[in-house]
Amino acid sequence: MICFNVPPCTGNEMKYIGEAVASRKICGDGQFTKRCSEWMEKRFDAHKVLLTTSGTTALDMASLLCELQPGDEVILPSFTFSSTANAFANYGARLVFVDIRPDTMNIDETKIEAAITSRTKVIVVMHYAGVACEMDTIMAIARKHGLLVIEDAAQGVMASYKGKALGTIGDFGCFSFHETKNYSMGEGGAILINSPAYVDRAEILREKGTNRTRFYRGQVDKYTWVDIGDSFLPSELNAAYLWAQLELADEINNDRLRSWQRYKDAFAELAARGRVELPVIPEGCVHNAHMFYLKCRDLSERTALIQFLKERDILAVFHYVPLHSAPAGLRFGRFAGEDRYTTAESDRLVRLPLYYGLTKEDQDRVITAVRDFYGA
Ligand SMILES: Cc1ncc(COP(=O)(O)O)c(C=O)c1O
Repeated sequence: MICFNVPPCTGNEMKYIGEAVASRKICGDGQFTKRCSEWMEKRFDAHKVLLTTSGTTALDMASLLCELQPGDEVILPSFTFSSTANAFANYGARLVFVDIRPDTMNIDETKIEAAITSRTKVIVVMHYAGVACEMDTIMAIARKHGLLVIEDAAQGVMASYKGKALGTIGDFGCFSFHETKNYSMGEGGAILINSPAYVDRAEILREKGTNRTRFYRGQVDKYTWVDIGDSFLPSELNAAYLWAQLELADEINNDRLRSWQRYKDAFAELAARGRVELPVIPEGCVHNAHMFYLKCRDLSERTALIQFLKERDILAVFHYVPLHSAPAGLRFGRFAGEDRYTTAESDRLVRLPLYYGLTKEDQDRVITAVRDFYGA
C-alpha cells in the first residue's frame, strides 16, 4: 500500500525526547521549545514565534488577539480547513467567504474589496499547498481599510512570497506541525506575531491568562491572573520531536521538492494534451512542496481516478468540501459575490502521495498508475 502521507521522522526524535525526559522538564517552554522558536525567528526573520498545541490553537490565539466583538465580520476563503473558520466563529464573528483563484486555489485578491463592510475587522488568507496568496495586494487593501491580516500558513512552513517567509507578512501567521504537515510534532503549531505591540498579550493568552512568561524571565516577582487565556503551549516532548525536524529542515524541504518536481515533469505531457491540470506557482512565490495535486476534468473523473488508484493500493485523497456549503458554514457565514471557482475547482482536485522519504519506486508506481488511467 502506498500511503497518502507518512509522518516525517529524521532519526533524532527519540534521542531528543529522551533528553527532554532526562532534563525533568517535560511541560512547556523548556529548552526544546526555546530552540524551535528561536530557530524559526532566525530562519524566517520573524519578530516573535510561540509554539502552540496545534495550528488550530494558533489560529484561535490570532483570533483572540484581534479582539473581535459579536457580529464583527471576517473575510476568508471557503476553500480551506474548518479550523480557519472556527477560530472566528468560536468568538461570535460572522464569516464572509470570498471566491478563490483557479490557478493557485488561494483567495482571489481582486474579490476582497467588494466583500468589505463597516463590520469587517479581519482578512484571513490561507496559503494553499504552501503557495503564497497575492500578499502585496491583500496587505494594501487591509491597510487602506484599517483591517488586520492573519495568514493561515499551516501548509506554508519554509515557503516564501517575494523573499518574505509565509506567516511573517500579515499581522499574525499560523503554522501547523500536525503529522500531515512538512514538519511535525504529532499535534502542534506556532503563532508568528509580526507586530511587537501584540507580544505581551499573546504570551498571557497562551499561559492561561497569567503573566507567567514574564515571571520566568524575572520581569515580575510573582505571577498572577491578568487577562483571559487558555493553555496553548505544547509539552517539551512534542517540541523535542519538532526539533529533530527543524534541524534538518532543508533536507526535508529538498526531498519533498524533488518528489514534487518528478510528478510535475511526469505529467507535463498529460497536461499539454489537456487531460489534467497541474499546480501553478506564480512569479515571486517559492513553494515548499506541501502537496502535489492534479485537477481532473470533473467530479466523476476524479472519483474514478481515486478508485482506480485504490485498486492498485495507492491512496489519493481530495479536499476540501467548501465551507460555505457545509452545515456550519451556512450557520456562521455567507458567500460574498459569485461562487465561480470554489465549488467547481475543489470538485476536480485530487492529491497524490507526497511525503518526506517517498521512494522513487513508489512514486513511479503512482505515476504509472495515473498514466494508465488516462491511457497515456
Ligand atoms: C489550512 C489549514 N489550516 C489549519 C489547519 C489546522 O492545523 P492543526 O491540524 O495543526 O490544528 C490545517 C491542518 O490540518 C490546515 O491545513
